[in-house]
Amino acid sequence: MPSTVDEIPTRAFVIGYPVKHSRSPTIHGYWLKKYALFGSYEKIEIAPGRLGDFIAALKSGGTDYAGGNVTLPHKESVFAMADRVDETARLIGAINTVWMDEGRLAATNTDAYGFAANLDDLRPGWDKGKIAVVLGAGGASRAVVHSLLERGFSDVRICNRTLERARELADRFGSHVTAHESAAASELLAGADLFVNTTSLGLAPGDIPAIDFTVMAPGGLVTDIVYVPLKTPFLAMAEDQGIASADGLGMLLHQAVPGFEIWFGRRPEVTDELRRLVIADMETGR
Ligand code: ATR
Repeated sequence: MPSTVDEIPTRAFVIGYPVKHSRSPTIHGYWLKKYALFGSYEKIEIAPGRLGDFIAALKSGGTDYAGGNVTLPHKESVFAMADRVDETARLIGAINTVWMDEGRLAATNTDAYGFAANLDDLRPGWDKGKIAVVLGAGGASRAVVHSLLERGFSDVRICNRTLERARELADRFGSHVTAHESAAASELLAGADLFVNTTSLGLAPGDIPAIDFTVMAPGGLVTDIVYVPLKTPFLAMAEDQGIASADGLGMLLHQAVPGFEIWFGRRPEVTDELRRLVIADMETGR
């Protein structure tokens, strides 16, 4: 809260097109209130044709934003427009968090951090494994693969409908990563420690293939970065087979932590209360 009437609020944004369904304002709004900080976090819908003007205004100090989040379809474009992009974002090839730093626009990608932090929360020790099977080869998959390599996985098997896209990822990330057709997923799961779905598969009922997770290594874990519904068909299938599973909502919550800390100066906590708030928010469909 302001100590004097002259104090200036810290402002942050999420830009996207569309941006209506972003849950980020709920998350950052919760933390601003919880820590009684004088600031705001707002959604700004920016059509691709207007993105350049917005970023130029930000860089020239024509706005009073400290920074913000960048969501679809701008994650790659803003990557190219930023003055400084860190190594993580470079490896992933997209950014999701920006901030002004001494007049320069700095950018990073916090999705890989969010992915790992969620599993640290739900399944401590999940990263003791070596073999992971990742379904999908899009933008989200790049963040997951980066995270797995950082945590020491030495055999990451990417399965994708379009083999060529899986190959691009394998080339990008080096010898610990291999590319395969989706049909090979069941076979590749033998002895694996972790399965991650990064595709939208399973959003339509009945559209996922039957997978035998019981061939995974003892203590195998199945996770999904899709969090609507919370228990996705992949997670339900694992549960039915007696295999441990972890939902992906925490990735959304944890990826917000570094940005909040950068803009508002306080490292926030992902709490059960926040989790319940975001679930309720999704249920009301706002
Ligand atoms: P994101 O940034 O969310 O990862 P994306 O880059 O569009 O989104 O990638 C979507 C991923 O889901 C891809 O791996 C895609 O497979 P293709 O590379 O073959 O397109 C996968 N995907 C989406 N719909 C799918 C479907 N119906 N069957 C199989 N894979 C699907």
